[in-house]
Amino acid sequence: TITPVLLCGGSGTRLWPLSRKSFPKQFVPLMGSQTLFQDSIRRLQPFAKPLVITGSDFRFIVVEQLAELGIDPDAVLIEPEARNTAPAVLAAALYLNAKDPETLMLVCPSDHLIPDNDAFRHTVDQGVPAAEQGSIVTFGIHPTYPETGYGYLELAEPSDGGPVPLRRFVEKPDAGTAEQLLASGTHMWNAGIFLFKVSTIIEAFKTHCPAMITPVQKSVEGAQIDLGFLRLAPAPWKDAESISIDYAVMEPSDNLSVVPFNGAWSDLGGWDAIWRESVRDADGVALSGNATSIECTNSLLRSDSEGVELVGIGLDNIIAVAMNDAVLVADARRAQDVKRAVQVLKQRG
Ligand code: GDD
Ligand code: MG
Repeated sequence: TITPVLLCGGSGTRLWPLSRKSFPKQFVPLMGSQTLFQDSIRRLQPFAKPLVITGSDFRFIVVEQLAELGIDPDAVLIEPEARNTAPAVLAAALYLNAKDPETLMLVCPSDHLIPDNDAFRHTVDQGVPAAEQGSIVTFGIHPTYPETGYGYLELAEPSDGGPVPLRRFVEKPDAGTAEQLLASGTHMWNAGIFLFKVSTIIEAFKTHCPAMITPVQKSVEGAQIDLGFLRLAPAPWKDAESISIDYAVMEPSDNLSVVPFNGAWSDLGGWDAIWRESVRDADGVALSGNATSIECTNSLLRSDSEGVELVGIGLDNIIAVAMNDAVLVADARRAQDVKRAVQVLKQRG
């Protein structure tokens, strides 16, 4: 069996004002009537019941959105505080280890757009034999530009669709390195989805990140059941390093392989990505909610507020997003800087 482990503790600050600290992007209907979290849960339905790992603030959102789909999770693990993805994955692995160390876990982000569920399932299936043999299986996306916010996978040989060994995993390269990796023709983007045996990933932590084992193990062993949630014990959790699984385990490991994913994929990392993935008119304008365009081009105009009419006139390359209590107007080329708005507002208190 494959147990999906859905990571949904991230904060998504680049999609402010839609994504909020108390209600991050994975839980917001971003691209349709369902949320990315719900899309992810449905995509994972062919597999065993999902294990969801998230923060305390989001626990009731998770339950409500699962209930809307009528899906019963294996468990909802609550982190005492967000310490990035490495402790979260290790906690899930140690929890599953008590049941069956040979089970496969499919670690998935909860905030990606992957419209073709069948292609996704087929690609995951391709990775199963390698994972059963003790490999950490990654999924590769054909890169189209030198993104610095992703991990890069260097293929040891070309793939005919099935898994091939990985020579190297490079997380979030600087701009110059990203250019080189893109030009090499032998690298793919890391989709952020991983398949491995529980025992494989625990071994990898023991080898590459041994200091994390004891605190996370104590948190899992001391977990308390509370209203159906499994709350990890807070005291030992503080001693777990805050680091992503990509840096902690993927970069230093040498038993990685990659299965190329040919379906559409976007991590919707900013408003520019939302604009690219939206339905646009002939002038490149994406409208959503109470929004109107008069002779605009290449812009995203979106009002998620019933009470706010948004009208753009003669705009080019602009992102405008209105909510009840906040409005963002930005140059589309500066979409990645939206996280700075969140920092500034936080400082002001
Ligand atoms: N439970 C939990 N706790 N989940 C978390 C935490 C945490 O502390 N931090 C992040 N997450 C969740 C996010 O909600 C998201 O679904 C997923 O884990 C990945 O975290 P991101 O913070 O979005 O990672 P990233 O986008 O910078 O990089 C990863 O994804 C890229 C593809 O989108 C890496 O795996 C890259 O190598 C990859 O290319
Ligand atoms: Mg991400």
